[in-house]
Amino acid sequence: MLPKLIKHILAATPQSQEVKISGWVRTKRDMKNLVFVEVNDGSCFAGIQCTFDRDAAGPNSVETETALAALSTGASVEICGRLVPSPASGQAVEIAASSLRIIGEAPADSSSPVEPSSPAEPSSPAKTAIPPYPLQKKRHSLEFLREIAHLRPRTNTFGAVARVRSRMAFAIHQYFQQNGFQYVHTPIITAGDAEGAGAMFQVTTLNLEALAKGGKQIDYGQDFFGKKTFLTVSGQLEAETYAAALSRVYTFGPTFRAENSNTARHLAEFWMVEPEIAFADLEVNMALAEDFLKFIFNTVLEDCADDLAFFDAHIEKGIIETLRQVADSKFTHITYTDAVSELEKAVAANASVFEFVPRWGCDLQSEHEKYLTEKVAGGPVIVTDYPKEIKAFYMKLNGDNKTVRAMDVLVPRLGEIIGGSQREDNLEKLCARMDEMGMKAEDYSWYLDLRRYGTVPHSGFGLGFERLIQYITGMANIRDVIPYPRAVGQANF
Ligand code: 4AD
Ligand code: MG
Repeated sequence: MLPKLIKHILAATPQSQEVKISGWVRTKRDMKNLVFVEVNDGSCFAGIQCTFDRDAAGPNSVETETALAALSTGASVEICGRLVPSPASGQAVEIAASSLRIIGEAPADSSSPVEPSSPAEPSSPAKTAIPPYPLQKKRHSLEFLREIAHLRPRTNTFGAVARVRSRMAFAIHQYFQQNGFQYVHTPIITAGDAEGAGAMFQVTTLNLEALAKGGKQIDYGQDFFGKKTFLTVSGQLEAETYAAALSRVYTFGPTFRAENSNTARHLAEFWMVEPEIAFADLEVNMALAEDFLKFIFNTVLEDCADDLAFFDAHIEKGIIETLRQVADSKFTHITYTDAVSELEKAVAANASVFEFVPRWGCDLQSEHEKYLTEKVAGGPVIVTDYPKEIKAFYMKLNGDNKTVRAMDVLVPRLGEIIGGSQREDNLEKLCARMDEMGMKAEDYSWYLDLRRYGTVPHSGFGLGFERLIQYITGMANIRDVIPYPRAVGQANF
């Protein structure tokens, strides 16, 4: 059996039972006869208070006293004691501690190098100076914490983000598994561009430096896969092949985009959830997206209450109420054409309301998405039927020959959280569209086979996992909801 975590101990009814905890010290307060040590092990938001009573010192008191004197914020410890009801407010239980063992110190002051203890031991290496533990008890800026991303999970904010992220990943699997979806693992390395956006990272084992020095032409036939390959921008096309066999599937994995967009909502490496359903049109797709998001929000409200309370108090006031409202509301549906009319009305009322003038045929800017969610709908909006020119080749063409059955789910504060569509299931129409876009049918012959053999109306969408976590936690920058963000000019750790 695994030892109990602090979250298990905090949930127990104290009956003076002996407990042992392991974790990292958050604070130590020395009050003459009592020493209070708050320990956190990351298993839940709260830490546990361990009280050392010098008057009631037991047989290990000398060792414990020495350890207490050396103890500082960040040290890893093991503490034994009795679990008792706490007289302090804000905590039901605490540990009446009997022993303390420091496992690893975390010096608060720069410790000077220690010379080898005696010349007789020339082989023992000199210790190098350790800079002070950077996470002393005070507020740190998110920018500073990004520079120490390897230590930031020990803070309240990043511990909470990590737990919410983990629980939400599980909730995503729960939702789909409960609803008859099969989890499909689509490839990370691909030869095609699923989105036609052209912002891909190339994968090669060719020695490009040597080739450049030798002034040689690059022959990708000599590359590892015998052709040019890239990191995937989406698992959708492969997911479609499995949906055309298993009816309902989803992917959930890393996705890569070499877009040069240095914003608070773009990453070069992010996780995407992509369900794909056969025998389903855009209406079913919209209903799925709404039901799925509501399940996720209800789960986080129910299972991550302590972490959410922290985000509500310190990161985004009112986030809990917002999530509750969204979980109970009906998402607004609006076509792209109607959305543009709404934006034009706003411009007619106030010419300087937007930086970018909204125009039919142009992509919606973040400020437009913000206006639609915050001013027009007052909540999530699903915008459908975008002009075909601004969407991917695989989307189903409408009867007007101008728009496609696309949908973007927009949420307040963030804008697009989901992008999806009904797919073009007609072979001729799909080939014509690919031709228009200068794509070669032979490169996608496997994809076209789905329309050649047993074609079905089918739909799906992609949810950016980090955008979801941003929305739920209220964290302003997407780089703070993934452990090690990859963005333009940033691939540390
Ligand atoms: O709208 P996108 O590009 O759609 C697709 O990739 C489709 N293949 C999805 C599908 O229909 N199966 O991306 C989907 C979502 C966006 O709505 C956004 O939430 C997220 O992925 N996303 C990003 N998240 C972080 N950083 C980026 N650079 C992102 N690009 C897209
Ligand atoms: Mg999109």
